[in-house]
Amino acid sequence: MAGKIPQYFIDDLLARADIVPVVDSRVKLRKTGKNYSACCPFHDEKTPSFTVSPDKQFYYCFGCGASGNAVGFLMEYDRLPFPEAVEKLAASLSLEVPREQLAPGQVKRQQESQSLYQLTEQAAEYYRAQLKDHKVAARAITYLKNRGLSGAIAKEFGIGLAPPGWDNLLNQLATSAEKADQLERAGLAIRRQDSDGGQGKQEPGRRHHYDRFRNRIMFPIRDQRGRTIAFGGRVLGDDKPKYLNSPETPIFHKGRELYGLWEARQANRELKRLIVVEGYMDVVALAQHDIRCAVATLGTACGEDHIQLAFRHTQELVFCFDGDQAGRTAARRALEAALPQMQDGRSLRFLLLPEGEDPDTLVRQIGGERFDQLIDEQGRPLEDFMFDLLGEGINVQTMDGRARLSKAAAPLLDLLPAGVYRQLMFQQLARRTGLEQDMLEEIIAAEKARTAKLAQQPVQPPQLHKQPHERSARSDVPAEQHQPTGAPPPMPGAGDEYEGYEGSYQDFAPPADYDYPDEGQPTAESERSHQAPTRRSGQYRLPAERMLIALLLHHPQLAQLIDDDTRFRNSADADLQLFAELVEVLKTRPEYNLNQLLGHWRAHHGADSFDTLAKLANSQLVTGARMLAINGQYQEYDPQTEFCDCLRSLDQATEKLRKRELLNQLRSAGNQLGEEQLALLAQFRRK
Ligand code: UTP
Ligand code: MN
Repeated sequence: MAGKIPQYFIDDLLARADIVPVVDSRVKLRKTGKNYSACCPFHDEKTPSFTVSPDKQFYYCFGCGASGNAVGFLMEYDRLPFPEAVEKLAASLSLEVPREQLAPGQVKRQQESQSLYQLTEQAAEYYRAQLKDHKVAARAITYLKNRGLSGAIAKEFGIGLAPPGWDNLLNQLATSAEKADQLERAGLAIRRQDSDGGQGKQEPGRRHHYDRFRNRIMFPIRDQRGRTIAFGGRVLGDDKPKYLNSPETPIFHKGRELYGLWEARQANRELKRLIVVEGYMDVVALAQHDIRCAVATLGTACGEDHIQLAFRHTQELVFCFDGDQAGRTAARRALEAALPQMQDGRSLRFLLLPEGEDPDTLVRQIGGERFDQLIDEQGRPLEDFMFDLLGEGINVQTMDGRARLSKAAAPLLDLLPAGVYRQLMFQQLARRTGLEQDMLEEIIAAEKARTAKLAQQPVQPPQLHKQPHERSARSDVPAEQHQPTGAPPPMPGAGDEYEGYEGSYQDFAPPADYDYPDEGQPTAESERSHQAPTRRSGQYRLPAERMLIALLLHHPQLAQLIDDDTRFRNSADADLQLFAELVEVLKTRPEYNLNQLLGHWRAHHGADSFDTLAKLANSQLVTGARMLAINGQYQEYDPQTEFCDCLRSLDQATEKLRKRELLNQLRSAGNQLGEEQLALLAQFRRK
């Protein structure tokens, strides 16, 4: 069982490794002056804007903002998790990677996960075997055939059958009480309510659990490494709930998984795009028609984590949702979750299907080729889709309409990270509203101030999530109430309501910063919240204090420009204090690079300030902000000029503050103003 890789080793490895051959063996580099360049492997381009600096041991793309060191490059290019990337780099230098000793608790957790993976895989195998051999298999196979699926596709997706009955899986896998408990932790068995938790009061031989999945077609959910981690189960007929999904377990977090992603990666060497659909059957049906790049969320809204995951594998996402109200709301949510991640080079499109159709029904009517064509021809690019959505019911011919469109667009556009794309979107808005950029900025600033104020007001707890008429988050509650007690459980059949309904979008637990009421019932309340999302990211630019820190992180040698390091140490501003501490460290260790600095910080300073640094180091606003295209030309920023500018603007702010204080003193003292003071006052007023 592997422990963490010690920081000293990573520092050492990065100091020894050379990024140039690492990149060059994957992307042919050309020497251009001090640096090397190539066409960026992370976005489509014809002229090279990807550079590798041997001095800084960093790569950077002026087109899409991708950047990092040798390990980062391997993670991105070879699509490796961090430890594997370190292993690979170390192996190229014939170094063995040491591991930290795991704490006993960690060992236990890892062992627990291992056994859950194993058990879930065994369950998947069992379900698959039942689809072949069980006496009711014929019915299930007919069902799948009627839905147009071939045996080959069913096999590829590992589809199986949970036979009718309360303890098939238990009988197969729960060879001991401990195993039964494990099945429960894997989400595959449910504890009987009358169970005493194994205290021995029950009749011997009687089970404490029953199978969660009964009489259902089983879709295994695989993680990025192809391990089965959960299931979705569909009834064979029209019973409710139509789909039942595994609950969250130590190895399954539905907010972070995409159904079909592993299969898509298996089927494609490179994913040109990923199509995000709503259902398991949509994914499988598209694969049946040779569209092997569809993924689905697992009965939850498509959130930021899903999109991040998808963008790790491709540059183009297409959301293909039903055209009904639920589909439109889902699309809007996906849009909001995606905006902060729209770095240059990425693209997002939307295809809302005609009402009553889903990708499954449609592809079966028109075939894969035409479906692909439909996406190409009718998938609306993000910008069109967004402005159309926002512009609904607004007449942009009128001044009022233009202002309304700008206001509605402001919080959304503000989610976009800095970059060319953001610029273009603002230009679009300007074009669509016919308003000057200045005017837009003003409207947007006012709107931001208003939403910031709204966000500070106490928010009603999102009661909508709990209202009884909702289908949401009820999956296990009724199960607890209705589950079988002493009497032999009835066979599930029509009207089997034990698990309740697991609604398609309703049941996701909103993260703390996600306070949208549910979209199930659009209300004035929900409309307003959608207009005013309070979300991270998307400031226009970093304040000078933070920019200084960020610049220092990326260019540690700048610390040497500060002659008076006591200057900020006593500042009342926490950021400036942090900045002063960084300068101090870098003055004694001028050889540090970003990773060494962060490593040092993690070892010697608080977790809070480490988090701040790590966030700033990754901020798009730093890596991308200063490289906006101006008249189509990329302007490379000069860190030193930037750094000095920030220092100067701090100086100016301090000076302003000093003058203001002086002025207040003069006022409150009721002094007769002397000539010098009058001059000062006049000067200050002019500013
Ligand atoms: P749909 O109801 O659109 O399912 O739910 P579908 O994929 O078209 O199903 P078929 O075609 O009738 O088989 C879309 C997704 O919402 C979740 C599932 O993930 C499903 O794939 N869902 C739906 C549930 O979790 N529970 C349900 O009861 C229904
Ligand atoms: Mn369907």
